[in-house]
Amino acid sequence: MAEAKRSQWGSKVGFVLAAAGSAVGLGNLWKFPYITGENGGGAFVLIYLFCILLVGVPIMVGEVYVGKLAQKAPVGAFGDLTPLGSPWKLVGALGVLAGFVILSYYSVVAGWAMHYVYLAATGAFSGAETAEEIAAVGAHFGALYANPGANIFWHTLFMAITVGIVTVGIQKGVELASRIMMPALFVMLIALVIYATTLDGFDRAVGFVFGFHTDQLTGGGVLEALGHSFFTLSLGMGAMLTYGSYMKKEDGVVATSFIISGLDTAVALMACLALFPITFSYGMEAAAGPGLVFVNMPTAFAQMPGGTLWAILFFVLLTFAALTSAISLLEVVASYFIDELKWPRWRAVALTGGAIFLFGIPSALSGGTELFGSGFQSKIQSVFGGDGKNWFDSLDYLASNWMLPLGGLGIALFASWRIEEVKRREALLGERTEGAPLAAYLAWLWILRVVAPVAIVLVMLHALGVL
Ligand code: PHE
Repeated sequence: MAEAKRSQWGSKVGFVLAAAGSAVGLGNLWKFPYITGENGGGAFVLIYLFCILLVGVPIMVGEVYVGKLAQKAPVGAFGDLTPLGSPWKLVGALGVLAGFVILSYYSVVAGWAMHYVYLAATGAFSGAETAEEIAAVGAHFGALYANPGANIFWHTLFMAITVGIVTVGIQKGVELASRIMMPALFVMLIALVIYATTLDGFDRAVGFVFGFHTDQLTGGGVLEALGHSFFTLSLGMGAMLTYGSYMKKEDGVVATSFIISGLDTAVALMACLALFPITFSYGMEAAAGPGLVFVNMPTAFAQMPGGTLWAILFFVLLTFAALTSAISLLEVVASYFIDELKWPRWRAVALTGGAIFLFGIPSALSGGTELFGSGFQSKIQSVFGGDGKNWFDSLDYLASNWMLPLGGLGIALFASWRIEEVKRREALLGERTEGAPLAAYLAWLWILRVVAPVAIVLVMLHALGVL
């Protein structure tokens, strides 16, 4: 069989939008606002920004760079750039596994977002006046959570759309979808933020997000900020590596990594500036936890003029964000089979997507049966950083606290010690630095060699309870 030509992005903008689409997801619109709320705002945000800049961006440069160099998905990339049978390949394998695990429950949460688009469109979030009506809106989530049929239905639909887009391929599927959804996402988010500025709670929200409340910051919060910077930038599992592998030779890695991280951070901050004013203006609390998006927001929409429209806008935004991230998760898993086993794309995507779908069913059922855990409260708590009690939570705990940091550690060490070694011998300094000043290059190198690994090990020790 003739070797098919490897896919490439149609343009640099296409690559940036697709990678930003991977980064911008439930992590930005859902998790970031609520962990900011729980950690008291300001000081936590500042630490998070430091983590993005000092650890996230350098690792992203390393990860995209490895992909671009190898022109292969994770396992093959490590295999190609190191001697055959090298243990580095395990880093790639871990990434494929992480993509599999994360997508299985991510799809369930994304399914909730889609369900909320439907609810909003059918007028469920409008005209609530009495306390009872208002409470009924918040109670939708409990009902959805406990309804196995609905969870399975939306999980199925979301996976089917994801599979459809990835099947079509890099340029016509992933890139086109991102080109449409990402600008739409920015416009919708900006509209929400502008609306939020007209609310009474806006000043209080700004004070909350950008003021310094160092008293509420804990050691655990610092580590949470670091851990989240991996999740939100899609680092440590080969998503950026895989997307980098479809780059053209002439496109630079450094500037694009800054742009992608900048867009991701902007969305996270804008999400706070949209969600907190609304939350405060309707008399709710910032530290509402994971329910911030699925309970607080609908409750506010139901009482606001034009609430149905804002609700549709918001949940479509959430769905788009989740979709472009899910695409990247599936692409990592599928491209392993495409690159390594030479499967045709449709087969790789259908089989891996189908397997992930099946693996996600227990997550979708977590609420309807008591098989996997307790009630609805613990479920929402569990989704992104809960207490390790049920299936859903265990998977997220495993992926976020272990697989991504471990993968990130591997990628940082690989890019800085292994590749740099090879490149030095080949004297390709010019290509490597992309014209950046030598000092900046050396800073990057030593961050990946020492600073980032130490930081990651601290996160893992924290997860182990040693710190
Ligand atoms: N970055 C995505 C988000 O913020 C999640 C994700 C993690 C996507 C890892 C791909 C890989 O929601």
